[in-house]
Amino acid sequence: MRTIVDVDIASAEFKADPFPFYERLRREAPVFRLTLPDRQQVWLVSRYDDVSMLLKDERFVKNRFELLTKEQLAKQPWIPKVFMPLARNMLDLDPPDHTRIRALVQKAFSAQRVEQMQGRIEALAGELLDRACRRGRMDLIHDYALPIPTTIIAEMLGIPVGDRHKFHRWSSRVLTSTSSRHGTFLAIPAVWLFVRYIRKLVKARRERPEDDLVTALVQVQDSGQHLSDDELLSLIFLLIVAGHETTVNLIGNGMLALVEHPDQLEKLESDPSLIRTAVEELLRFTCPVETATERYAREDVTIAGVTIAKGDIVFAAIGSANRDATRFENPDVLDIAREPNRHLAFGQGIHFCLGAPLARLEAQIAIGALVARCRDLRLAVEPAALRWRPGLVLRGLRTLPVTFTAQGSRKCVAAPSAA
Ligand code: HEM
Repeated sequence: MRTIVDVDIASAEFKADPFPFYERLRREAPVFRLTLPDRQQVWLVSRYDDVSMLLKDERFVKNRFELLTKEQLAKQPWIPKVFMPLARNMLDLDPPDHTRIRALVQKAFSAQRVEQMQGRIEALAGELLDRACRRGRMDLIHDYALPIPTTIIAEMLGIPVGDRHKFHRWSSRVLTSTSSRHGTFLAIPAVWLFVRYIRKLVKARRERPEDDLVTALVQVQDSGQHLSDDELLSLIFLLIVAGHETTVNLIGNGMLALVEHPDQLEKLESDPSLIRTAVEELLRFTCPVETATERYAREDVTIAGVTIAKGDIVFAAIGSANRDATRFENPDVLDIAREPNRHLAFGQGIHFCLGAPLARLEAQIAIGALVARCRDLRLAVEPAALRWRPGLVLRGLRTLPVTFTAQGSRKCVAAPSAA
């Protein structure tokens, strides 16, 4: 049996089944000292109530440049210069900077605005399924789960959809950089290309405005409202990355969970109106975002009897909180009709996921349409052959080969609500 200390939570092996480890942490070490692959010492908080508190508590902040002393910053792992403009993204800022930047994009991602995307998402899911149905098999990640959020976020922002393979390659490199000691170094070329790409895009929209979100943000900056060049750049970067690297995991992990629980898959096939609660349960059960991003203690804080010192780094294990038996009845049981379901998959507090309405709508349509059109869904490989992507924060599959029998109808299941 492995001991608590030797677990690498960013490894692909850990991602395959992190839940027994989290169960043990909640029981034995709810605030656990851990060494990351880059040798940083961090705290991992695993119980629902503590995770929820941590995400909302103002004693934990995001912007290390304002909190830490020069000496403390010097002890932090090396950050290449090319990464620095991206540090001004709203997920790494505190109020009032965070509040100001979030307000600029909040409207574009409101439930009402997102609902207008429904027809486009349905059409896209339909086209991808048409192609897959002709073959009777697909890699559910690359042929379906990935193109949907990637295409939609690209269209909303105004990025040429043909470039989506490029930016997914770069963002993959950035996200997996947390899984090895030299990951940051290896990610430099991808970050450099990504930053250059976004700068060119901003320049192009400034010269020739279009009806898209990048143009709207450029115009906000030009109208004199305070948004620095780095803030604009890192906001677009965050929207691209968060806009597709998460939802692909929800659709992919979610479909794997359904294939592994045929009774629940059948239940959804026979009652498509369950799609809303099903997606909430898949968010809880499969944790597409496994831990929140890091926070820094602004002062000494004691949680579950453990004192986290000022300046220490803390991670909230969302994937653990969502399986906490003090909050969920039979937490390890997948129940697509579960209600209430107060999972923390989208976080809590001021950094609560900006894209939650979009992610919900995309997943409801994608999973609903797939289940309606593809019967006898089965894994095309042994479960042990499935490979997970390494990295700290996210949890998702590299590939998901499946076979199925195509149903005739092209009708998608309409999503009941994105709210
Ligand atoms: C299943 C899909 C998704 C999940 C599970 C998810 C989860 C999360 C979580 C847990 C956070 C908070 C992180 C923290 O506090 O450290 C977050 C923040 C964020 N998410 Fe999502 N997300 C998803 C999809 C999306 C999409 C589609 C977008 C589209 C743009 C998006 C944009 C953002 C942004 C911009 C933030 C930062 C918000 C802030 O700092 O105020 N997310 N997300």
